[in-house]
Amino acid sequence: MNRLEHSTALVTGTTSGLGYAAARLLADKGYREVIITGRSLARVQQTAAELAAETKTQVFTPLELDLDSPLSVQSALAELVKRSLPIDFLLLNAGMVGGKKRVLTAEGIEAAQAPLIGHHRLTIGLLRANLLSPNARIVIAGAEPARGDVPMFSYTDVAYLAAKQFHGDRSAAVEALVRKGPNVKYEPNRAYADAKLIVAWWAAALARRLSSGMAVYAVSPGSAPDTNAVRNLGPVMKSLMIPLTKLIPGMSQTPEIAAYRYLEASEFGTDVSGKFFASAPKKLTGPIEAMRHPHLHDRTNQEAAWKAIVKVSGTDLSPACSSAVS
Ligand SMILES: NC(=O)c1ccc[n+]([C@@H]2O[C@H](COP(=O)([O-])OP(=O)(O)OC[C@H]3O[C@@H](n4cnc5c(N)ncnc54)[C@H](OP(=O)(O)O)[C@@H]3O)[C@@H](O)[C@H]2O)c1
Repeated sequence: MNRLEHSTALVTGTTSGLGYAAARLLADKGYREVIITGRSLARVQQTAAELAAETKTQVFTPLELDLDSPLSVQSALAELVKRSLPIDFLLLNAGMVGGKKRVLTAEGIEAAQAPLIGHHRLTIGLLRANLLSPNARIVIAGAEPARGDVPMFSYTDVAYLAAKQFHGDRSAAVEALVRKGPNVKYEPNRAYADAKLIVAWWAAALARRLSSGMAVYAVSPGSAPDTNAVRNLGPVMKSLMIPLTKLIPGMSQTPEIAAYRYLEASEFGTDVSGKFFASAPKKLTGPIEAMRHPHLHDRTNQEAAWKAIVKVSGTDLSPACSSAVS
């Protein structure tokens, strides 16, 4: 018997790219229900119809979810509570690379950071409503730039920023990165690297708060330029660098191969909960492994990131849901 025939997955950001590919792979794998989200109901309904036609299955349930909007997250949660079906695999895939111009959401959150704030609200809302199954797996999209070994991408040294600008308060420094200010200059590649570094820290901090059967991992799908992720890049990057990248062996992979990494991680154990899985160091494709870079494992920064995200999102776990965090 297919053990997935009773399983439910929820995938965010499915209207293009890796979220779309992951939803299709989950149906192929035998998931009974795949809840797919998109910013507008009309668009995600269209996505559900396309996926149903491609996979010849009727397992897709469209759900409106704009992670930039607290109200939209609340409505999506209310919808999920109404259905009251526990989720076995929560795939927090939505994300974006910012463009040349800094964009802030209505709440004043840097656009590349906003998906994490929305994902945090969604995850905590599901945990509080007891809507994740006891052995649920949570995967959030990370990216190799968080390691600091990808050319043209560097991340902010939070301890240094805290010491220089925030009297040593690292949580205030992370909050400044999330809100892009004060004292934070906008640069799109750095904003993306910072966003994905904070994702990795968030996963590590969440792992310490989950009940024992559940697990969370940050997972980089790796380089997959044939998605809409490139939409905000400048013309030189889009018309020269990306096509060149595709010609160099080992620099890119198909969206299906990239999305498959999420599914692979959904079967990892609780022993590696909280870890960041990505391509081998200095690589952007190939098999995934747990990253060992010391800055990813800095517990002070992980907890500072959690504190900042709780503050910015206004959402924390109730004491009933959290185990002791020492
Ligand atoms: N492709 C790569 O090479 C690569 C490498 C490493 C990591 N990643 C990560 O993989 C994930 C998927 O990227 P992709 O390449 O598939 O890009 P994509 O084709 O642009 O897909 C991103 C999806 O996320 C949605 N989304 C973005 N921000 C959102 C928000 N605030 N609220 C709701 N939905 C939102 C988009 O919806 P809209 O169209 O409505 O914006 C879209 O459905 C991202 O987290 C990305 O950072 C990608």
